[in-house]
Amino acid sequence: MIPEKLNSTEPDLSLDRVDGRLKVTGAAKYSAEYQFENMAHAVLVTSTIAKGVITSINSKSAETAKGVLAVISHLSSPGVPGYGPAKQPAERAALGTNFRIFFDEFVYFSGQPVAMVVADTFEQAVHAASLVSVEYQSEKHRTDFKANVSKAAMAQSVQRNKNSPFQDYARGGTDDISNSEVTLEATYTIPTQHHQPLEPHAIIAIWETDDKLTVYDKNQGVKSAQGQLAQAFKIPRENVNVNSKFIGGAFGSGIRVWPHTIAAVIAAKKVKRPVKLVLGRELMFTSVGYRPHTVQKIAIGATKQGELTSIIHEGTGQTSAYEEHLERTVLGTRAMYDCANVSTKYRLLNLDVNTPTWMRGPGDATGMFALESAMDEMAFALHIDPLEFRLRNHADSDLERKLPWSAKSLKECYHLGAQKFGWKDRVLAPRTMQKDGMLVGYGMASSLYGFHRHPSKARAIMLANGSVIVQSATMDIGPGTGTAMIRIASKILGVTAKKIRFDLGDSSLPDAPGQNGSSTIPSVGSAVHVACEALKNKLLVLAAAMPGSALSVVKPEEVTFKNGRIFPSIFPTSGVLYTDILKHHNLAQVEVTEESRSGQEVSQHSMYSFGCHFVEVHVNPLTGEVRVKRVVTCADVGKIINYKTARSQSIGGIVGGIGMALMEASVMDHRYGRYVTSDFASYHIPVHADIPQIDVFYIDKADTLANPIGSKGLGEIAIVGVAAAVANAVFHATGKRVRELPIGVEQLV
Ligand code: MOS
Repeated sequence: MIPEKLNSTEPDLSLDRVDGRLKVTGAAKYSAEYQFENMAHAVLVTSTIAKGVITSINSKSAETAKGVLAVISHLSSPGVPGYGPAKQPAERAALGTNFRIFFDEFVYFSGQPVAMVVADTFEQAVHAASLVSVEYQSEKHRTDFKANVSKAAMAQSVQRNKNSPFQDYARGGTDDISNSEVTLEATYTIPTQHHQPLEPHAIIAIWETDDKLTVYDKNQGVKSAQGQLAQAFKIPRENVNVNSKFIGGAFGSGIRVWPHTIAAVIAAKKVKRPVKLVLGRELMFTSVGYRPHTVQKIAIGATKQGELTSIIHEGTGQTSAYEEHLERTVLGTRAMYDCANVSTKYRLLNLDVNTPTWMRGPGDATGMFALESAMDEMAFALHIDPLEFRLRNHADSDLERKLPWSAKSLKECYHLGAQKFGWKDRVLAPRTMQKDGMLVGYGMASSLYGFHRHPSKARAIMLANGSVIVQSATMDIGPGTGTAMIRIASKILGVTAKKIRFDLGDSSLPDAPGQNGSSTIPSVGSAVHVACEALKNKLLVLAAAMPGSALSVVKPEEVTFKNGRIFPSIFPTSGVLYTDILKHHNLAQVEVTEESRSGQEVSQHSMYSFGCHFVEVHVNPLTGEVRVKRVVTCADVGKIINYKTARSQSIGGIVGGIGMALMEASVMDHRYGRYVTSDFASYHIPVHADIPQIDVFYIDKADTLANPIGSKGLGEIAIVGVAAAVANAVFHATGKRVRELPIGVEQLV
């Protein structure tokens, strides 16, 4: 049974997903599904070596193949003005340079686009691409993390920036744990993991005129894509129109504008036709980033009574040879627990691979796998219940920033989660609980995720017929943005949700951040809130100006907006319909655009979302097969806007976390520096049969300091900590601690 509301104090039911019907009937149009007359198709040719120089490209037979309009490479590209001129003689890109497609002869990673065929049809382009022959002079590549880890170093960009959060950090007296009563040291490893949304990345590029560009592109931010494309092609920002109305999942892969997007725009320029480019599944492994392979060392010291005395956390992640991708791997450790002595270090290892990027819960999902596994190990060493150990070390304020929390109900999460899960039935000793011949394990982990709120605008329009349009250049990569925004608008305006439309995914709409960092509800939700409040005020002024209106003599706070009407709160039968207000003033519509942004409160408080996960696994003692049987998750993310879609987000994050724990790994053959996982047959993600009952609970208490709607980020805290909870449950079931993901049968038998 899916509960439709949080608790009995919530008077109305959740909204169904407003675009659900469009999605399940196929009526929702994704980027690659738009049709244009005379549209051509681009297919990329990619490098077969991981490092070296292109010595020749023979494209003669491709050029004469049927339907081919152009073969483009660094030898024939019309160029990207924003890249600047290529140096002569050409030089390898310095560290800190975005990858520039078709720019020069250098190869930086296997799978790098080195040429592109544009043809009348997709099939013709695929065929002709197979006829392009590229010769290389290979150089020795470095792709193997283990073999090269001694070359890891503090990122150059961090060395240059003393204020970077990625600088080495230490608080307390020492980064030595040896004088703690109980100590523990361990190394935790996660492999490279790819986002792999169902919808592959795709773009249709159309040059309307020489300096006017329209794209239908899969991305997570139409405004940032607009800015990046304007910069790349040196045209005014307002001359770029980016449309991304429906997105079939992204998880971070769409935050940046990647080279294939630029490639399609180059192609459209060259052939002077609309050009479509879709990444095949194999190219999804080398074109749009990934969660980087990361090795972390944790050392913990505690008293015998279970008080943390010291935590040392060092993380090293991989990046490309040309860019430094930094993420929060070790940062959560500074804020999570009440521990006087904490030190963290973060290092990068440059390899001949493409650049990683943010992937759901970036850094935190990685770091909390290590920290929350280590906490479990320490609890075991101390003979203390793992939940009790966390409660004893609960941080009542942020010791890193020396600030109070804006709001924190983590203890309530622990208690509610434990109660719903039945944590009290857990036997402390591992490998003691059994059911139906299976080893049973109960594991838990904490979760945190930072608060991100960006300046956002929204427009609210009331039409003469009383219906409402709300607009913002925000995105929906899956969580149900429109549904939540309509819920906010509906409650404020007193207009039924069915009469409200929310427009997003179009760069011509009011400025808003991309959908990332779990920032959409806190940022854009706040903008929708203030825009609807402003619309109400405007309607009230218009209503009060009507002859004989009682509204002219009551204070604004004594006015109610409900059922499409404004009335003095004490005279519910008087008042006026919104439609009559517009009719009286002879207005086709009433419109407001408002901006919302953070104020002083963010520098005076530390803001995070918090949560915890409880997991039951069954492990087959003979085969080592792990099945997740049950998950209970509880989060404190402030006020829940729409329970049904919130719950779906939490479930999605946990499914991702189960994938991270048990299945997902991108495997490279280091002889060639090339991924051998290149499809869903080799890159495993959870399917329905892998996913058990997941029960989701929220504390649902507004964080009134965070923003006017009291709501914090939800999308990413859902995955943070899940892998540790699974690993901890596996330990509890088997007595075997697995510190390298994914947990496979080979580690358990
Ligand atoms: Mo998220 S990794 O900010 O899409």
